[in-house]
Amino acid sequence: MQFGVCYYPEQWPRAMWADDAQRMVELGITHVRIAEFAWSRMEPRAGEYDWQWLDEAVETLAKAGLKLVLGTPTAAPPKWLVDAHPDVLPVRSDGTRWNFGSRRHYDMSSATYRRECVRIVTAMARRYGRHPSIVAWQTDNELGCHDTVPSYSAAALQRFHAWLARRYETIGALNDAWGNVFWSMEYPSFDAIGLPTLTPTDANPIHLLDFRRFMSDEVASFHREQIDVLREHAPNADMLHNFMGFFTTFDHYRFAADNAIDVAAWDSYPIARTESIGLPLEQKARFARTGHPDVSAFDHDRYRGIGGGRFWVMEQQAGPVNWASWNPVPAPGMVRLWAYEAFAHGAELVSYFRWRQCPYAQEQMHSGLNLPNNELSPGGLEVQRAAREIAGSAVLSTLAAPAPAATALVFDYDTQWMFDIQRHGKSFDYQTLAFDYYESLRELGLDVDIVSSRADLSGYQLVVVPSLAVIDAALVERIARSNAKWVFGPRSGSKTDAFAIPGNLPPGALQRVLPMQVLEVETLRPTLAPALSIDGTEGHALNWREHVRANGETRIAARFDDAWPALLTHGNVRYVAGWLSHELHRTVLRQAAHEAGLDTQLLADGLRLRRRGGLTFAFNFGAQPVQAPAPRHATFVLGEPRLNTGDVCVWKDA
Ligand code: GAL
Repeated sequence: MQFGVCYYPEQWPRAMWADDAQRMVELGITHVRIAEFAWSRMEPRAGEYDWQWLDEAVETLAKAGLKLVLGTPTAAPPKWLVDAHPDVLPVRSDGTRWNFGSRRHYDMSSATYRRECVRIVTAMARRYGRHPSIVAWQTDNELGCHDTVPSYSAAALQRFHAWLARRYETIGALNDAWGNVFWSMEYPSFDAIGLPTLTPTDANPIHLLDFRRFMSDEVASFHREQIDVLREHAPNADMLHNFMGFFTTFDHYRFAADNAIDVAAWDSYPIARTESIGLPLEQKARFARTGHPDVSAFDHDRYRGIGGGRFWVMEQQAGPVNWASWNPVPAPGMVRLWAYEAFAHGAELVSYFRWRQCPYAQEQMHSGLNLPNNELSPGGLEVQRAAREIAGSAVLSTLAAPAPAATALVFDYDTQWMFDIQRHGKSFDYQTLAFDYYESLRELGLDVDIVSSRADLSGYQLVVVPSLAVIDAALVERIARSNAKWVFGPRSGSKTDAFAIPGNLPPGALQRVLPMQVLEVETLRPTLAPALSIDGTEGHALNWREHVRANGETRIAARFDDAWPALLTHGNVRYVAGWLSHELHRTVLRQAAHEAGLDTQLLADGLRLRRRGGLTFAFNFGAQPVQAPAPRHATFVLGEPRLNTGDVCVWKDA
């Protein structure tokens, strides 16, 4: 459990660097990330490198005993580069180009830009790759942020053609798979295919989906080109990229495959994220100063899986930020709580954005660990407290990595894209549905691993699949042989890989283990709310509902008030035929957990638990004081069971 910070020596006078380094160490910081936007200082003119300042910054930090994470500067191409090669600017869906003057103004498909990136990364890696204090490298910064993926450029189109040709081999196969006979969309050759934009009405959904899949692969291959260079010159360092919260523009499982990263790092801004995702307004209001209790946890659990167990928080909110619709100051205690929360979920490192608030340019209203005048900010003081607590505790400072959870939640990027492309009703968002299931599991006090449907699921007792658009025979075979209880949400098995409805109707191949068919589906405006009750919990469907038929031995465990089946079970599999109101999801999951042999407890509002290394951590995100459910006579490693807002306590498991 170590602390880090993001630092921009190029933004401050050199005279401050040594003092900054010293104060970082005093605060309990061990890792510093630098350099990820500093291209114009590393290479002020084409081919003219200036490493002197970076050498000095690296040496100053290293001399203080700090470990370094070096970022490649490719998220911010300098003006001379853009002027020399205007084709590196990305193209928006309306055909216009983004301008220079902020960041991320580059097209990932541009051969020119890729060449320039490999050049600067090679120069950097040659110079610093074997420096003993540089323990990790970060490629670029938040790939895909600011909606800069996709790019609709000529370069992207050309590479899309090649991608399609590899996938389909012949144009006839593509026309068949895409169903291009519909509306006379047949193409004579791969070269004749355009990008799916500026069509009078919807483009073919599989055209849109394949473009998203292609762009996802572009992001991965852009990163991969840098990793290949870095691994050669920095063979002992960890490789990473800083991913984002609630972000689905590319498939992170594919991105991370084949050792493309050693650690999954991500950037956690709980309050701003709570404000910017599709949560009910009442929840945004309730958790305005704490962040929603599951919003960071969800991504801690997701990225722990993507990193194969290893994850870091590369940027952690340290106070008010600048980019959500409203940016309140966190409730007292929250900056400390978020650190313990990340550690409880398995983070090896929590690194703050940023060391000191910058008084100029775009992020002048974004806090850091220090105020612009160099006094520790309130968040900085909380980090100081947490770092001292951990250093002073033999138990906390030597904590083992978390064991696998008993419950898995399957999250799938193709599903997000398919349901985004054809939502059917505007309120259907797959990630929001997945989050609702996740929140329900956490309210029941369960630890959750978020995993891919292709992960090894054999160790889990309960596998929750909020939805999975494509269900293949291989997965069904694993379900048939599994001892776990499985819960499938609506729209599962509703599509083929080519974005069509399965011939045997949804849920497609799943029918082998759960005989049933979905006859019709409907999306629900807020005034349409078919009611039902499960095990004494009253509620209704919202957003989405299916009219299904149970076949064979399948049992109907609950019905809507108009008699359509709502919950179907067969063997170890359950299917939920609609998006249910929250308490009903919780009831369904509680029943499944009990059948799976798991104990649940309904936690007090705003309270969350997480186990790691023989300890249970409890957090209060709610407005009211709560009592943590520690066993009588539990030994507390930190805090006490009565938790006010923003409090944490930790006890030893019996
Ligand atoms: C992140 C980004 C940082 C900084 C931060 C502000 O998205 O990686 O460079 O802009 O947001 O919250």
